[in-house]
Amino acid sequence: MTSQTTHSAEGHNGNYPGKGIGQPVGVAVLGMGTVGTEVLRLISEFSSNLEQRIGGPIDVRGVAVSDLGKRREVLDLFPDIALTDNALELIDRDDIDVVVEVIGGIEYPRQCVLAALKAGKSVVTANKALIAAHADELSDAANEAGVDLYYEAAVAAAIPVVGTLRRSLAGDQIQRISGIVNGTTNYVLDAMASTGMSYDEALAEATRLGYAEADPTADVEGHDAASKAAILASMGFHSRVTYDDVHAEGITNITAEDIEAAKDAGFTIKLLAICERLFDDAGNTTSVAARVHPTLVPNEHPLASVDKSYNAVFVEAEAAGRLMFYGNGAGGAPTASAVLGDLVGAARNKIHGGRAPADNPYAHYPVADFGDVPTRYHIDMSVVDRAGVLADISRRFADAGISISAVRQEEHGDASRLIVVTHMSIERKLAAIVEELATLDDVKVVNSVIRLDADAAE
Ligand code: HSE
Repeated sequence: MTSQTTHSAEGHNGNYPGKGIGQPVGVAVLGMGTVGTEVLRLISEFSSNLEQRIGGPIDVRGVAVSDLGKRREVLDLFPDIALTDNALELIDRDDIDVVVEVIGGIEYPRQCVLAALKAGKSVVTANKALIAAHADELSDAANEAGVDLYYEAAVAAAIPVVGTLRRSLAGDQIQRISGIVNGTTNYVLDAMASTGMSYDEALAEATRLGYAEADPTADVEGHDAASKAAILASMGFHSRVTYDDVHAEGITNITAEDIEAAKDAGFTIKLLAICERLFDDAGNTTSVAARVHPTLVPNEHPLASVDKSYNAVFVEAEAAGRLMFYGNGAGGAPTASAVLGDLVGAARNKIHGGRAPADNPYAHYPVADFGDVPTRYHIDMSVVDRAGVLADISRRFADAGISISAVRQEEHGDASRLIVVTHMSIERKLAAIVEELATLDDVKVVNSVIRLDADAAE
C-alpha cells in the first residue's frame, strides 16, 4: 500500500494565530439534552480552573435548543446567555469561537458542524453517528479552515480513547482494537449471565433502571457500537472506515442457553466491536475490517470481566503492547467530561494559536469484505442421535477445509445437543458450512452460532 500525502491545511497560510492570553473564548452550545445540560453545569462549576488551563475564560455566549419554552434550571447560572432555536444564526455570530454540538441525529448536526467549520470555528461534538458517517467531509472542512474538530465523547464517553489513538499512540502501529463500547448491551448480557434471566427480562430490567433508552433498537441491534467501531478503525488504522463499512449484529438472539453453554466452555458472551488489519502472506497489511457481533470472550481475557454498563477498549499496538481503557461509556456527566476535555483543547488553541493533530487517513487501506475476515465459530445444534452422525458432520468440516478445535455432545432424549468449536477460518467458509449443516436431515436445528474472539482465543 503506497502512502499518500498527509492532509495538509489548505485555504490559509498554515499559520494558526491565537487570540492572545487572557482573551475570552466565545462558545456556542447546540443542544440541551442530558449532555448539553451537564456541559453547561460543569463549565459554570469549573470556570476558574478552566480559565487557568486554557489561558482565558470560557464565555458561553449562546445556546441553541429546539423548544424555547422549556424551563432549564442550569441556564440560571448563565444569566446573560442568548437562548435561541436558530442554531445556524448562533454559529454565524462573530463572537463565537468554538461550537459544542450535542444535538444528536445526523443531517441537521451535519449542517451545523459544517457551517461552523467553514466559518472558522472549532467544533467539539459528541455525535458518533455524525462522525461515523461524515468524518471525511467534516475533516476536510476543518483542514480547509485550519480549525479543530474534536470528538472524544463520540466513543465510549468518558474513556479517553479517541485522543489516545490520535495523540498518545500516534507514533505506534495499532494492530487491533476490540472493545465493549455499548453500555446497554453489556448490562443486558451481564444480567443474563449473572442471574440466568432471559434477554427480554434483562432488557426490561435495564430499561427500568435507566440503562436502556425507551427505544433501545440502536443499542441492541449493534448500530451504536458500529458507529464507534468505524471511528476507532479510522483512527487506529489511519484510513477511512464509515458506519456502512461495519458489519453489525446485535444481541437480540442471544438466549439464556447460549450464555450457559458459553459458561460451561469457559467463555463470557460480550458484544464486541472488533477493528483489525488483514494481512497478505508476507505480513503486509492489505485491508482493514470493523465488525460488531456477540463474541465468546475467554474468561481470562480482561474484557470478560467488564460488567454492568461499563465499557472497555482493548488496544493492541506493535510497540506499546496490550492496553485496556475502562470506564463509563455513557451518561450525562461522563460524556460531558469528554466534551469538556475537548473544549479545553479547542479553546486553548484559540488562545495560544495552533491546531490539534487532525484526522490523518493517509494509509487509505481498503475495507475488507466481511466474508474475508478471519474468525472462529461456536456452533450449537440439535442432531439425531445415531451412529455416524458425528463422523458425517466432521467430514463436512474437513471437506470445507475447516479445522475443528473442540466437540461437545449432550444427550437429550432421542436427540443430541452437539457443540462444535472451530479453529480459525474465514467468515465466508464458516457461514457456508453452517448453511450446509442446516440442510442435513440429521441436523434438527442449528440453535446458535456465536463467534469467538479470534485473537484472544486461538
Ligand atoms: N446508548 C449508548 C450505550 C451510549 O448504551 O452505551 C451512547 O452511545
